[in-house]
Amino acid sequence: MINIKSAREIEIMREVGKMAAKTLHFLGQNLKIGMTTEEINKMCHEYTVKRGGIPATLGYHGFPKSLCTSKNEVICHGIPNEKDVLNNGDILNLDVTTIWKGFHGDTNKTFLIGNVKPEIQKLVEVTEKCLQAGISVCRPGARIGDIGAIIEELAHGHGYSVVHEYCGHGIGRLFHEEPQIVHVGKKGTGTELRPGMTFTIEPMINIGKRHCKLLDDGWTVVTKDKSWSAQFEHTVLITEEGCEILTQFSHDEWTVDDEKI
Ligand code: MF3
Ligand code: CO
Ligand code: CO
Repeated sequence: MINIKSAREIEIMREVGKMAAKTLHFLGQNLKIGMTTEEINKMCHEYTVKRGGIPATLGYHGFPKSLCTSKNEVICHGIPNEKDVLNNGDILNLDVTTIWKGFHGDTNKTFLIGNVKPEIQKLVEVTEKCLQAGISVCRPGARIGDIGAIIEELAHGHGYSVVHEYCGHGIGRLFHEEPQIVHVGKKGTGTELRPGMTFTIEPMINIGKRHCKLLDDGWTVVTKDKSWSAQFEHTVLITEEGCEILTQFSHDEWTVDDEKI
């Protein structure tokens, strides 16, 4: 069953979306070569709880940390660790999910650490464009397959592959609810989008083959061929007119208080 959010619920989804977006922005501003992903985890945790939020990943099906940190060949669900150091030339995805007044906001972004090889920079740029393309087709009457189709077309056009096994998802009171948003598909197929739906789009794009492998820690997903992978994620709301990105904020909404933990 797909949950259609009420006006009141949508207001809270807007609030939590901004909280998650601001947390992600703060973390991005504070990345440094030599830092460990555990340090990022600590910043994320403190930033979230100081604002009255709850980091959704902490304890989620046993996940041990307050965000996911996925570097280079890690596709998603990387676990912050004090041995995992940021090196010049790395790419790092930070995936932040916040709970506020019982609702979830979920967003992620891939950051460039120092000087990244041009072909990897291109992968990251195109992956962000894949997310934007997916969002661009979201409106009442469109179908879920339209989202996957446009993402797949753009990624394949650049010779990249799209991860099949992990998807976007409905979101609200639950972290993951119906529907699944697969990042491949056929235009005109799948569930029709309706006003009041809230879901994530979060394409994972590989420079090599699409296949993935789960590491022994039970969480970390890597590319089977060790090729690098990028991801971007937003939580979106279907409106009467089209859609609204919930996990963003405008320049004037960023205050001095947002600058510090
Ligand atoms: N934030 C991820 C998503 O976009 C889910 C992380 S679940 C965790 O759906 F348990 F790995 F943290
Ligand atoms: Co998500
Ligand atoms: Co996420």
